[in-house]
Amino acid sequence: MALKNLPLTLTSLDVMQDAPVIPVIVLSDVNHAVPMARALVAGGIRMLEVTLRTPVALQCIERIAKEVPEAVAGAGTVRTPAEAQAAARAGARFAVSPGFTNAVGQACKDHGLPLLPGVATGSEIMMASEAGFKELKFFPAMQAGGPAMLKAWSGPFFDVKFCPTGGVSVQNAKEFLSLPNVVCVGGSWLVPNDALQAADWPRITQLASACQELL
Ligand code: 3PG
Repeated sequence: MALKNLPLTLTSLDVMQDAPVIPVIVLSDVNHAVPMARALVAGGIRMLEVTLRTPVALQCIERIAKEVPEAVAGAGTVRTPAEAQAAARAGARFAVSPGFTNAVGQACKDHGLPLLPGVATGSEIMMASEAGFKELKFFPAMQAGGPAMLKAWSGPFFDVKFCPTGGVSVQNAKEFLSLPNVVCVGGSWLVPNDALQAADWPRITQLASACQELL
């Protein structure tokens, strides 16, 4: 699948606009990183959120960054400035956080990482916006109000764009993606743990390819 050229320095909008879904990935075996990344790229998905939830996550980012140049490795679950720094050193080109703090926002700026900070309330949107972040992750999207919440936010926060994540699935993704303030969604369904354990890379490619039909 032909993917368009990306600028060397990405913005958070570049990250969000590349595909309808950002896969949320949990890897427990470093040997899965490269074939998994290739499988997603083969299905047209190259913005990969590798969550910092396992001891091998940074190593996985490093492997993808070095060995799969057609993918863009990002770090998810970035909760501290130290994690932002470690992610950038490992080769991550963007960051996603489950919440927002000024310290994490500043660390990502310092290390050149476009950040999608997580928000679930109006006050959090205002704090993130004040710090210069207008492209945000709505997390946990279904639990915190789903599409109705995004519709309500579109009035006061007319200049903010969202990537809803958390409880988003192939069944409800279209409803989110049809909203004008939603650019993409995030979800873990593209990289099921059983597919990783079985090294079933074609299944991951097929799940990624199916995302093109969501638009
Ligand atoms: C997460 O951070 O785990 C994401 O929100 C993924 O949630 P999901 O498993 O509901 O897609």
